[in-house]
Amino acid sequence: MSVKLKNLIQKRFISSFNSSPVLFFSPGRINLIGEHTDYNNGFVLPAAIDKGIVLAVQKNDSLYCTVVAHDLDATYQFDLNSISPIQNGGWKNYIIGVVAEIQNYGKSLSGFNIVFGGNIPKGAGMSSSAALENSIVFGLNEIFELGLTKKEMIQISQRAEHNFAKVNCGIMDQFASMFGIKDYALLLDCKTMESKSTAIDFGNYQLLLINTNVKHSLTDSAYNDRREKCESIAKLLKKESLREVTKESLDSIKDRISGNTYQKGLYVIEENDRVLKTVKALESNNLEEVGNLLYQSHEGLQHQFNVSCEELDFLVDYTRNTNDVLGARMMGGGFGGCTINLIKTTAVVAFSEQVKNAYKKKFNLECSIYNIALSNGTHKLSIT
Ligand code: GLA
Repeated sequence: MSVKLKNLIQKRFISSFNSSPVLFFSPGRINLIGEHTDYNNGFVLPAAIDKGIVLAVQKNDSLYCTVVAHDLDATYQFDLNSISPIQNGGWKNYIIGVVAEIQNYGKSLSGFNIVFGGNIPKGAGMSSSAALENSIVFGLNEIFELGLTKKEMIQISQRAEHNFAKVNCGIMDQFASMFGIKDYALLLDCKTMESKSTAIDFGNYQLLLINTNVKHSLTDSAYNDRREKCESIAKLLKKESLREVTKESLDSIKDRISGNTYQKGLYVIEENDRVLKTVKALESNNLEEVGNLLYQSHEGLQHQFNVSCEELDFLVDYTRNTNDVLGARMMGGGFGGCTINLIKTTAVVAFSEQVKNAYKKKFNLECSIYNIALSNGTHKLSIT
């Protein structure tokens, strides 16, 4: 967490509202492996990171709420008694969505003021939206003493995303952001909501994120479409989700579904298996195997689940030219955002330079490179 960011948000709150706030930090996330498996009740292996949202909040003794988005230098006011989704409302929908879902959950709120700001690159697939949602629900839970558990809070965040941002996301992002543990990834079983922490220590290797700096416009509708396809397979087989579907049962309906839909189902079954294999490989410190699984995951996302794009494929393929990178894949929902790479630490500087030049030459566009550290989940900050 950046102390500079915290001080900036605190100062902005004091100058905007002439009172002292309570401060919170809510992180973004990476995902080692297990993509598009969460809404199929499958396995994921995410981790919270040291980049996120700082939220400053305080009650204001009215029915009105004022929110300042520090990074955008924008202010938004709303009445707690008349909240509905805003078309193309962007960040505002995450705020009012969480507020409305808290109210729908039977908890009452009164007016409050908020300033928030962050350092998660937007559109990078590092879940700035989940970080924002969690910061709001966590902050309001604290100042209004709502008594919500962390599990209830992430469900409220997810419902805000479904009903206000209109993305039928799974639970991975909200879970990782809320429950993250410093230096650990979380193996989450999205069916039981149970998680196991997995220590992350790559020795001479490390993770590196490369941002394509593109976000292709179909993202949200394509996401919802993939989810519907997966659910249609489960429905046909009279199962609750793809988690209960084996390759054999999928094969049994092969001639009743399109080749395209078949591949989507097969991808999810295989990706769940890869998550469990990755955890085993991490436990036995077999980084070559982790790298291979990352590459296999990317191939599945590219050719079977069809959520990659030219820019992501280029960045992953580029790593195949060097032995210093053990594996790479696209991360998050797809159609842009980042790749996640497992790379030898001593090679980071030279590789970064090379990949930047190659990307620029190919797309006439800069890619951005981030080192990240794994951090704790959403929490209150001390005031200094
Ligand atoms: C987005 C969603 C998550 C998950 C990933 C893909 O980040 O918010 O729930 O489905 O895409 O793994």
